[in-house]
Amino acid sequence: MKVLVTGSAGFIGTAVLRRLDDLGHSATGYDRQTDPADELIDLRRLRAAIRGQDAIIHLAAKVGLGVNLSDLDGYARDNDLGTAVLLRAAAEESVRRVVLASSMVVYGEGRARCPEHGTMPVPPRATADLACGRFEPRCAACGSELQPHLVTEEARLDPRNGYAATKVQLEQFARIWARESGGTAIALRYHNVYGPGLPRDTPYAGVAAIFRSTLAAGRPPRVFEDGRQRRDFVHVDDVAAATVAALECQPEQGFTALNVGSGRVTTIGEVARRMAMIMDGPEPVITGDYRLGDVRHITADSSAARTLLHWSPQVDLDAGLRTLQHPTCQHQKAL
Ligand code: UD1
Repeated sequence: MKVLVTGSAGFIGTAVLRRLDDLGHSATGYDRQTDPADELIDLRRLRAAIRGQDAIIHLAAKVGLGVNLSDLDGYARDNDLGTAVLLRAAAEESVRRVVLASSMVVYGEGRARCPEHGTMPVPPRATADLACGRFEPRCAACGSELQPHLVTEEARLDPRNGYAATKVQLEQFARIWARESGGTAIALRYHNVYGPGLPRDTPYAGVAAIFRSTLAAGRPPRVFEDGRQRRDFVHVDDVAAATVAALECQPEQGFTALNVGSGRVTTIGEVARRMAMIMDGPEPVITGDYRLGDVRHITADSSAARTLLHWSPQVDLDAGLRTLQHPTCQHQKAL
């Protein structure tokens, strides 16, 4: 298949290009890191790049949690406007298949169970609770601590920061595009992606990259809250395999969103301990600090992706964390 990959020089893009190549597809990259003229919001240039392709994998995005509200317009420009122009260009060039990078952050805190009041969407945590170290979300009716659930794709979307809001918007644009163009759009809600080439030393880096840099400098990883926040870390090679499988699968015409995680729930404290052990560094420090935009627990049920994409994650967490020490690729800067 002839495929245009946006964000091809990024962390996930590099792995996706490798996977496409391995499977004999013909991929073209579009990334402003390799060519500053490769702007998503340049309709003419995008149309020229898309012309003659069979499909698009859209990975280019401004990532991370964001530093503060001064980031908002940058997220909107790169992620919302960028996606809108891309989908318009795809329609105008009659490309009918698009795979897009979405994120687990679209769920906010997902769903959880109160022993008395049943399963419910998790409300945002109150600043006053966080400030006094009450990190577990609570039932709005009785105040009991909620038991986290695995979220399925039907869970309510509830973005809690600017980046998350742009990923919800991306999915909505893709749904509209699929209906109006008759095309097929698959949005992959990636969980916490890690592996060699993980962007680092930027305020937008994910926690595994931060821990790696800290340990490499001989310092202990600083674990926020009480370290019991749950995540699912999925290796970049597994994410690349899922992304290319989404290109090759035969879903119904229209829009589909799929969770892409390893299926293994872990905690940030555990990841810090494992990384400290692997890198032979100092024990992590649990700081009790918090970030308002952070969600407490977010873990997905990725069984729909396994069924629809005939894909399953292959990289075990310890083996994967060891790959963090491998030499990084040269295009690893965050977008
Ligand atoms: C991450 C990504 C997000 C992606 C999502 C997919 C980043 C910044 N965020 O969100 O883009 O869409 O996965 O699910 O890449 N923490 C520490 N110490 C630190 C830094 C963070 O303990 O030095 C904690 C945070 O408080 C949080 C957890 O680690 O509880 C994960 O943080 P992080 O990797 O930044 O973001 P996610 O919310 O998991």
